[in-house]
Amino acid sequence: MILAELKKLEQEAIAQIAQAADDAALERLRVQYLGRKGALTGILRSLRELPPEMRPQAGQEGNRVKQTLEQALSQAQESLQAAARDRQRRVGLDVTLPGRRPPLGRMHPITRITREICDIFIRLGFEVVEGPEVETDYYNFEALNIPKDHPARDMQDTFYISENVVLRTHTSPMQIRVMEQQPPPVRVIAPGKTYRRDSDLTHTPMFHQVEALLVDKHVTFADLKGVLTVFVHEIFDPSVGLRFRPSYFPFTEPSAEVDIACVICGGVGCRVCKETGWLEVIGAGMVHPEVFRFVGYDPEVYSGFAFGLGIERIAMLKYGIDDLRLFFENDLRFLRQF
Ligand code: DAH
Repeated sequence: MILAELKKLEQEAIAQIAQAADDAALERLRVQYLGRKGALTGILRSLRELPPEMRPQAGQEGNRVKQTLEQALSQAQESLQAAARDRQRRVGLDVTLPGRRPPLGRMHPITRITREICDIFIRLGFEVVEGPEVETDYYNFEALNIPKDHPARDMQDTFYISENVVLRTHTSPMQIRVMEQQPPPVRVIAPGKTYRRDSDLTHTPMFHQVEALLVDKHVTFADLKGVLTVFVHEIFDPSVGLRFRPSYFPFTEPSAEVDIACVICGGVGCRVCKETGWLEVIGAGMVHPEVFRFVGYDPEVYSGFAFGLGIERIAMLKYGIDDLRLFFENDLRFLRQF
């Protein structure tokens, strides 16, 4: 009977497949049973000659056996491969070899310096805050008393997203955001990325600043000088000279620029300090009464100082790096030195 024949063939084939030692043996079996002239193929072909009432059952059974054999073959092939992999692994394992060291990352010099700067101000009682790099015209300019026609708003310097949205050109907008959120006293620093359309030895389109703002009753310019002097002496060395030059910023009055003696050339003059011996690293001043009015602080009651410093400049001086662009090229030979 054809069903008995199929059963017998199935059992035989399964037994042989289980014993096949390699891929070639499996292939031989596949041809022997499922090939064009294979045993199962022959039986399936002969189904045509059966009486019609027997065909469906025999056909079904034939197909089932075919599927079973195909599955058994591919499973056998997989387990042969797995066994081969296993053998290989065991041969290649030398437990006395030293382990492989996972590659370790390290902090980017800008990140390191930013943290060092923050640590100094945290010790002085400042709190660290962060805010958006995509900023509105209002926070970046308007509320900082930078009117529409101020040269700092020139297309030359500012990346515009739209008419009223910019990439912040400085971290000063954080002054406004913080004061809007809380009444005085305020003592915060805001580190972060800033953007300007500028690119040469000492400028990159993206750079980093730290903004500081202190507001309370009776805050004076002497407090500003004291804090900045402590900061410069902490981040560099108590011997590093600094000087305060009168300057102008729309959001401070009076304003000052703070220079640090160029430690690259020792003050003699080099391309970094543009032959002046000094490097401008900090813009500072007493918060302008107009700025207080924008955030609803009473300028008759409160006073404060603010300053902003360029992190890259500080990192250059601290590490003796004479090209700002090195920070952003991500050359591992450079980065690994820190
Ligand atoms: N925002 C200024 C700049 O990017 C730096 C600055 C100057 C910040 C004076 C201040 C400040 O807070 O009081 O050039």
